[in-house]
Amino acid sequence: MNDVHLTLEKGVLTSIIGPNGAGKTTLINLFTGKLSCDFGRLFFDGMEITDLTPHERVRRGISRSFQITNIFPQMTVVQNLQLPVLARLDRAARPFARPDRDPDVGAEVESLLEDIGLRELRNVRAKALAHGDQRLLEIGMAIACRPRLCFLDEPCSGMNPGERVQMQELIRKLTAMRAVTFVIVEHDMDVVFALSDWVIVMHQGTVLTEGRPEAIRNHAGVQEIYLGEKVGA
Ligand SMILES: Nc1ncnc2c1ncn2[C@@H]1O[C@H](COP(=O)(O)OP(=O)(O)OP(=O)(O)O)[C@@H](O)[C@H]1O
Ligand SMILES: [Mg+2]
Repeated sequence: MNDVHLTLEKGVLTSIIGPNGAGKTTLINLFTGKLSCDFGRLFFDGMEITDLTPHERVRRGISRSFQITNIFPQMTVVQNLQLPVLARLDRAARPFARPDRDPDVGAEVESLLEDIGLRELRNVRAKALAHGDQRLLEIGMAIACRPRLCFLDEPCSGMNPGERVQMQELIRKLTAMRAVTFVIVEHDMDVVFALSDWVIVMHQGTVLTEGRPEAIRNHAGVQEIYLGEKVGA
């Protein structure tokens, strides 16, 4: 990252786009604490978070999903959702607890299952789910911590067109119902332009430009970095 100055607005669905290696995932890693900054500062909701650990940032309301699906393959859908709920309720460190008998955990897991549409598949092991359903489960795990800000790294990657539409509907629904501000990294421009209120374009570790989707679509510099040549040349 070099010379990046960004403000992510509450309630504004922001997409980060840019060619492979532009630094999109790196930016998410810096916001969420997977990587630490050796220069610069980060603030969330008026408080400095630059030196907080990833889990401290989760507690403040920042969560994420990963570019490569990151779920517990041997565990069922319900068990995968129980883990972040237990962590949020501070009950993860009780060795003899039975999360399946904890009514608070149960109620939250039910509402997550309903939101992500995986109720019927609740007892299926995560590794046996279709790819699209695994991605939905991962989003369920990301929102189980009740984030106010949630980064989704290529939520639609590897999905078929029907699954992509389902994912977009889920993101819209969660934005409205759970008051989550989503920031998504996405290569599919149809998804980007359909979903976003604001688009940030990255190139070679820096922000090339940002703006409303219509403006970005017609931006000559953006067309150039994607096509790899000067537009009109
Ligand atoms: N810890 C690191 N040290 C040095 N270089 C790194 C490190 N992490 C990532 N890079 C490099 O920085 C560049 C940006 O990587 P990043 O994964 O953020 O790109 P991206 O925009 O997410 O790309 P993609 O669309 O392919 O996912 C890449 O060239 C990558 O190899
Ligand atoms: Mg990436």
